[in-house]
Amino acid sequence: MKCVIAFAALVAIAAGACNKDITVKSQSDINTVNACTKFQGDVTIDGHQEGLAGLGALNMDSVQQITGDLIIQNLYNLQTVSLGQLNSTASLKILNNTNVYKVAIPKLANVADFQVITNPNLKELTYSNITTVSNFQIIDTYIASLGAFSASSVGNIEVLSNTQLTALDFSAVKKTSGYINIANNGRASNITFSQLTQVGGNVSFGNAATLDISKLSSVSDDFSLYQNSFKNLSIPALATAKKSITLSQNLFSAISFPLVTEIGSSLDIINNTNFKSISSTTFPKLTSVPGSVVISGSLDNITFPSLTTVDGQVQLSGSGKLSCDSAEKSFARVDSLNIECDLKVTSKDNDNSSDDSSKDSGSGSGSDDSSKSSASRTSVAAVLGGVVAIVAACL
Ligand SMILES: *[C@@H]1O[C@H](CO)[C@@H](O)[C@H](O)[C@H]1NC(C)=O
Ligand SMILES: *[C@@H]1O[C@H](CO)[C@@H](O)[C@H](O)[C@H]1NC(C)=O
Ligand SMILES: *[C@@H]1O[C@H](CO)[C@@H](O)[C@H](O)[C@H]1NC(C)=O
Ligand SMILES: *[C@@H]1O[C@H](CO)[C@@H](O)[C@H](O)[C@H]1NC(C)=O
Ligand SMILES: *[C@@H]1O[C@H](CO)[C@@H](O)[C@H](O)[C@H]1NC(C)=O
Ligand SMILES: *[C@@H]1O[C@H](CO)[C@@H](O)[C@H](O)[C@H]1NC(C)=O
Ligand SMILES: *[C@@H]1O[C@H](CO)[C@@H](O)[C@H](O)[C@H]1NC(C)=O
Ligand SMILES: *[C@@H]1O[C@H](CO)[C@@H](O)[C@H](O)[C@H]1NC(C)=O
Ligand SMILES: *[C@@H]1O[C@H](CO)[C@@H](O)[C@H](O)[C@H]1NC(C)=O
Repeated sequence: MKCVIAFAALVAIAAGACNKDITVKSQSDINTVNACTKFQGDVTIDGHQEGLAGLGALNMDSVQQITGDLIIQNLYNLQTVSLGQLNSTASLKILNNTNVYKVAIPKLANVADFQVITNPNLKELTYSNITTVSNFQIIDTYIASLGAFSASSVGNIEVLSNTQLTALDFSAVKKTSGYINIANNGRASNITFSQLTQVGGNVSFGNAATLDISKLSSVSDDFSLYQNSFKNLSIPALATAKKSITLSQNLFSAISFPLVTEIGSSLDIINNTNFKSISSTTFPKLTSVPGSVVISGSLDNITFPSLTTVDGQVQLSGSGKLSCDSAEKSFARVDSLNIECDLKVTSKDNDNSSDDSSKDSGSGSGSDDSSKSSASRTSVAAVLGGVVAIVAACL
């Protein structure tokens, strides 16, 4: 296909061309935007319109600033994007470009809303130093590394399903006003939030080999860890967990929350295969859970040395060395305990015969409540919402 390179940049800069929203329809519209040092408006480049659909390379290496949104989406033939001088934009959304493999935005420093989502062949995403960002999302790409990230106060951070990505260094981040959701990246991913103290929304980490949240002291919404492979983790500074704490399907054998005294809603500890003992160091100071406590897995021992209040139900299930009788004793200090217990004793020291030692001391509230473990969810589709029309340059 042969594209006509228009001389739009030279002729189309009628007064005002850099000051209004543009839905790009052709290469010459791209040139028009690129001829502006500062473009004041939104730039939408969407391949759903025939014409632009054939675009293979998007080069806008002169424009330095876009005050509105820059949206690059649904361009299925697009292979490379180069925004060589762009240093600032209200948003940069690169969505659903199935074949793009290289995106260069080397100067981008300030971007309120940064979304790189569903570009499954994207291998090279080069930005050198993001210093100001409110919403930061990289989801479903093939990138193996992130650029420097030096923003200390952020809105949301979401990095999901980048299967080649192993080093997630967010050590510059001190607090977020929104959520952090990181999961399903490279197999041995190391996640570092070593300076993070406060999170205004949910915190969810999944599939990590190492995790550093050693200064995290306050979480305003749900806190969850799931399918992580680290063996032992201390969350030494966390004092305030305003909603639930969920630990599900992790491989740790020990974890500790030394400062947590109160959980805002419920505590779920579910199917952590190697986690046999909730010991006196796991939740040493936890006194009160206004919601439920749900524990399932192969537990040998449960100890909550300070727990005196559970307003919801305590639900125990699984199989291990722990019997329901012993488990009830573990919660003996809890006022008006409401416990539903379904623990099968599969092995006891020096006693391989027992099956009867499992007892149901259910509180009469009927059948099992099935798992309530809540993993984090992100609707990529929800992000890929609005669509505009587009282009025709290559005729
Ligand atoms: C970013 O672009 C703006 C608009 O052209 C310019 O004034 C500013 O100097 C640039 N900043 C940097 C750090 O390059
Ligand atoms: C990124 O930019 C910030 C602010 O300009 C600067 O302090 C920091 O050293 C830079 N980091 C890197 C890795 O370039
Ligand atoms: C992850 O951390 C482990 C242990 O600190 C280290 O051996 C490994 O090289 C790190 N991997 C990456 C990709 O940084
Ligand atoms: C886990 O690590 C802590 C220190 O971070 C240590 O005190 C504790 O003994 C470890 N637990 C296990 C079971 O290895
Ligand atoms: C936990 O394990 C039980 C029994 O294997 C299973 O029925 C349940 O779906 C699991 N729940 C989670 C959240 O993994
Ligand atoms: C559980 O652990 C506590 C404290 O570590 C210990 O005192 C208790 O005997 C253990 N219970 C069982 C049934 O092993
Ligand atoms: C213990 O029980 C298991 C399963 O019932 C059985 O396979 C095993 O041989 C028993 N071991 C002993 C020492 O009785
Ligand atoms: C996270 O936050 C949102 C909005 O506050 C909420 O709807 C959701 O249930 C929370 N929890 C999890 C585990 O995603
Ligand atoms: C994303 O691209 C696929 C084709 O690869 C297309 O079918 C789908 O409609 C696009 N999604 C959105 C939200 O535009």
